[in-house]
Amino acid sequence: MVGGMFYPEELVEEVRERNDIVSVIGSYVKLKKTGANYVGLCPFHNEKSPSFSVSGSKQMYYCFGCGVGGNVYTFLMEYENYTFVEALKALADRAGVKLPELEYSQEEKRQADRRSRLYEINKLAAKYYYCQLRDEKRGSMAYQYLKRRGLSDETITHFGLGASSKSGGDLYRYLRSKGYDDEILSQTGLITMDERRGAYDKFWNRVIFPIMDANSKVIGFGGRVMGEGTPKYLNSPETMVFDKSRNLYGLNFARQTRKNYMIICEGYMDVIALHQAGFTNAVASLGTAFTGLQAALLARYTKEVFLTYDSDEAGTKAALRAIPILKEAGLTARVINMKPYKDPDEFIKALGAEEFENRIKQAGNSFYFEIEVLERQFDLTDPEQKTKFFNETAKKLLVFTEELERNNYIEAIARRYNVGYESLRKLVNRYGAMQSVVKTDTERPVRQENGKKDRADEGMRTSQKLLLTWLINDNRQFEAIRGIIGPEDFTEEFYREVAGMVFEQYETKRTVIPAGIISRFENKEEQTMAAELFSTELSGELGSTEQEKAFAETVRRIKKNSLDLASRKAAEAGDGQALQKIIMEQANLQKLHISLKNG
Ligand code: UTP
Ligand code: MN
Repeated sequence: MVGGMFYPEELVEEVRERNDIVSVIGSYVKLKKTGANYVGLCPFHNEKSPSFSVSGSKQMYYCFGCGVGGNVYTFLMEYENYTFVEALKALADRAGVKLPELEYSQEEKRQADRRSRLYEINKLAAKYYYCQLRDEKRGSMAYQYLKRRGLSDETITHFGLGASSKSGGDLYRYLRSKGYDDEILSQTGLITMDERRGAYDKFWNRVIFPIMDANSKVIGFGGRVMGEGTPKYLNSPETMVFDKSRNLYGLNFARQTRKNYMIICEGYMDVIALHQAGFTNAVASLGTAFTGLQAALLARYTKEVFLTYDSDEAGTKAALRAIPILKEAGLTARVINMKPYKDPDEFIKALGAEEFENRIKQAGNSFYFEIEVLERQFDLTDPEQKTKFFNETAKKLLVFTEELERNNYIEAIARRYNVGYESLRKLVNRYGAMQSVVKTDTERPVRQENGKKDRADEGMRTSQKLLLTWLINDNRQFEAIRGIIGPEDFTEEFYREVAGMVFEQYETKRTVIPAGIISRFENKEEQTMAAELFSTELSGELGSTEQEKAFAETVRRIKKNSLDLASRKAAEAGDGQALQKIIMEQANLQKLHISLKNG
């Protein structure tokens, strides 16, 4: 439970009730009233026509485009990147609810305090570097350097670029003068404490790139030598507030653009050059390999990603590693060809923004990119090598588990490399058959009967979901199933959990408060699933006799499934008495009168 960790649930509910979701979300997103709900452009993905819906009666939001949803807490957590407690505090503040002083442990207090001081110091340091760059005497070299690299004053200001001075202790002295002690300063990663030399600045005589998180809080820095020298870039080490695997340079700006894709590149300068050229949806990982956490972060804002990694071997390898990670997060990847230039910065300087836009339009599907890279390892004029190449290609084609999609790719590759479609397809299927033999049951179902079982499970999930939707939309139907179905009959774990809460609310309050239930789930997937469930409306198209039939059918199916499961368990346990009782219930099931309650 989210709230229960620190605050009593009643308080969490009170704060939620005092903050009308329509007015909270309305302060971030332009909403328009349509019917009972409000709609607007979804802030969590890029869209041109509104599919983001906010319900005043349910106190929930749901996006029919990207599937995010939740209550007023999850909205702030998503939008502002708040923790639950931060969202609670903000909303309590907004509604004038006084939160009780919490019994934080000594350690918790120290940690929270330390984090906020690190943010404070980073902000001060960023300002300090920024001023250094603008100091006519001390900053002129750095300023000239940035100018030589083609950056406008506007761009320099927008990215908050700065400079560190030539002597190695200025920042340290400045921060000490602001009252920070060595202990906290050593944790910023900006000051190095050395027994012999004392304290000195990590960055000196470099141009400084402040690194911000998605909410524009400064979390670290990168510093580049002006001209030649090693290391070319120096970066802050990871600290309590700087986690390189969970952040992307430029995301604070890129997330605000309304383009329906994002561009991933390798370097700070690439991001800056791209933004300056109008591609404000560019981000870069922070001098480390692209991670799954970064992919998940991007997936909040977009469905499609264009890679413009350096066109050298290292860049190609990095792209090949990033592609499966992006796919895993549900993103489509395309690869931009920048030849003959090394990176987007150089490309744009040489050929301009318009030509880059063309390359985006021409960008190939990441699968073709992978095959092109593979191709370079073989000499296709040699029959033996050519055969090897097609064998490797056939193995790769197995990533497409959907038959139609796979055949489409087989066809495209066959055409591209001038080989017979049928022979390539046979090769792919042979590898497919080999693979299904070695795969175990727990992996992706390849065998027929597994497929069937999967569909049956899917059907049961749908029934359980439907019944919950029914109950939530029309609370009278709790009476229709009284004595027949309880939360324990929901065999799907997630639905059972939701059912437990919904039934309990109905029993104690005679009503269901979906928005309140959402905060009781801790992880985001579950919150989203619950929001989806609560936002589903019943189709009004069914005539009442059909509705009646569908309802009775659904209830029977769920009960039957639950009884079957129970009988299997009783049989396994050798509990004859229990089994007897279940068999009776099974027999009665057909005779049960189940009808919708009206009025
Ligand atoms: P590149 O070597 O491709 O540099 O490194 P670049 O971005 O083109 O930089 P310029 O144009 O020469 O100024 C790509 C990224 O890898 C990280 C940095 O994040 C850089 O932006 N990097 C590179 C380091 O962290 N340290 C290094 O020494 C070099
Ligand atoms: Mn470069």
